[in-house]
Amino acid sequence: MVTEITKGVYWVGVVDWGLRLFHGHELSTHRGSTYNSYLIVDDKIVLVDTVWGPFRDRLMENIREVVDPTKIDIVVANHSETDHSGGLPAVMRHIPNAPVVVSSHGEESVEGHYHQPWKFRKVKTGEKINIGKNDLVFVEAPMLHWPDSMFTYLTGENILMPNDAFGQHYATAFRFNDEVNPEELYEEAIKYYANILTPFSNLVLKKIEEVLALNLPVQIIAPSHGVIWRKDPLQIVKKYQEWAAQVPEKSAVILFDTMWHGTQRMAEAIGDGLGAEGVSYKLFHMAVSDRNDVVTEIFKAKAIIIGSPTLNQGILPTLAPILDDIRGLKFQNKVGAAFGTYGWSGEAVKLIEEQFQRCKIPVVAQGVRAKWQPKTAALAECAQLGRIVAGAVKSA
Ligand code: FEO
Repeated sequence: MVTEITKGVYWVGVVDWGLRLFHGHELSTHRGSTYNSYLIVDDKIVLVDTVWGPFRDRLMENIREVVDPTKIDIVVANHSETDHSGGLPAVMRHIPNAPVVVSSHGEESVEGHYHQPWKFRKVKTGEKINIGKNDLVFVEAPMLHWPDSMFTYLTGENILMPNDAFGQHYATAFRFNDEVNPEELYEEAIKYYANILTPFSNLVLKKIEEVLALNLPVQIIAPSHGVIWRKDPLQIVKKYQEWAAQVPEKSAVILFDTMWHGTQRMAEAIGDGLGAEGVSYKLFHMAVSDRNDVVTEIFKAKAIIIGSPTLNQGILPTLAPILDDIRGLKFQNKVGAAFGTYGWSGEAVKLIEEQFQRCKIPVVAQGVRAKWQPKTAALAECAQLGRIVAGAVKSA
C-alpha cells in the first residue's frame, strides 16, 4: 500500500514476503525483504530508486496511485544493484528523456546492467538539485557497498535516503521503526551489517563522520530495504558506529562438522571449558546451520573455534563456505583456535590454523587433534583449549 511518509514524499515500494534467499542464493532472508522506492512531489516530481525487476508492475501501479508516471521529471538511481534498479526500464519507458541522476561510478554500472541510452546526470558529494521548495543533496558513498553507492538527502522534509545503508531484510505490514518489534528489527539490521558491510567498516565510520559534518538535520532515514527510521532516526547511525568499531562481546562461537560425532564431542568439551570459565558460547554444526546466521554470531563474538575431521587430507566441504566468509568479511579483533579428529593423515587442524593466519586472526591455543574417537584425555585437552580461549576472551 502506498504510504505518504511525510508531506509530499511517498513510499511506492514493494514488500517481498516470500523472499528467503537473496543475491541469488548467497544470503538468507528469513523474514523476507522490501524494496523501497520513494516518490517526491514538489514543483518537480522525483523518483528515488526503484524495485527488483519482477516487481516492476507493482511499482508502476503504486506510482500511478500518486501521479501519472509521464509527469516524473527526475529519477535518482542511488545504486545499480538490480534489487533497486530493476524497475528503471519500466519507469524510463514513460520518460525516456528524463535525467537519471547517478554518482560518479553510477553511469557505468547502470548502463552496464541495462544497456540503455538514458540521459545520465552525474553528481558529486554536496551537489544540489533544486526541485521547487526543497533541494536534493547528494553524498557519494563508494563501497557502501558498491563503487556506485550514493545517499540522497531531501531538504525541508529532512529525509536521508541512504539506499542499502541502515537497511534490513525485513518484510512487515508496517513502514516505520516505531511500529515493529524492535528485537526483530535489530536482529535483521545487525545480520545485514555483519554479512554485507563488515569489510567496509572503516569506510562506514568515515562516511558517517562526513555526513554528520554536513550538519544536515535528519528527521527521517529512509533506507532501500526494511522499515524507515522515523522515531529517533539517529539510533541506527549510532549502532552502525558501534558495529563498525568491531568491538566484540566477550563470547565465543564453536563451528564444526562431524562424520561420526567424534569432532562433535570435542566441540562440546571445548564448550565445557569455556563455560567453566564463565564465557558464553554458541555451538554450530555447519552441515545443518544457516551460514549467514552464523556469520552474524561470528561478528558479535570475540573467539572463533573451528573443528573438522580430516577428509581426503583436507577439511569437510561443508566448512569451506564459512571459512571463505571469514576471509572475505575481514573480521577484526578476533582470536581463533582449531580442533578435529582424524584416522590417518590428520591435516584438518593445520589447515584451519593456516586459514586463521591468512585472515590475520591470531591462534591463541594449540590445536587439539584426536585419533579416531576422542578418548577421555583428548576431551580433557579440548576442555583445556576452551579454558585457554576463555582466558584470551576475558583479557581482551
Ligand atoms: Fe546493494 Fe539492496 O542492493
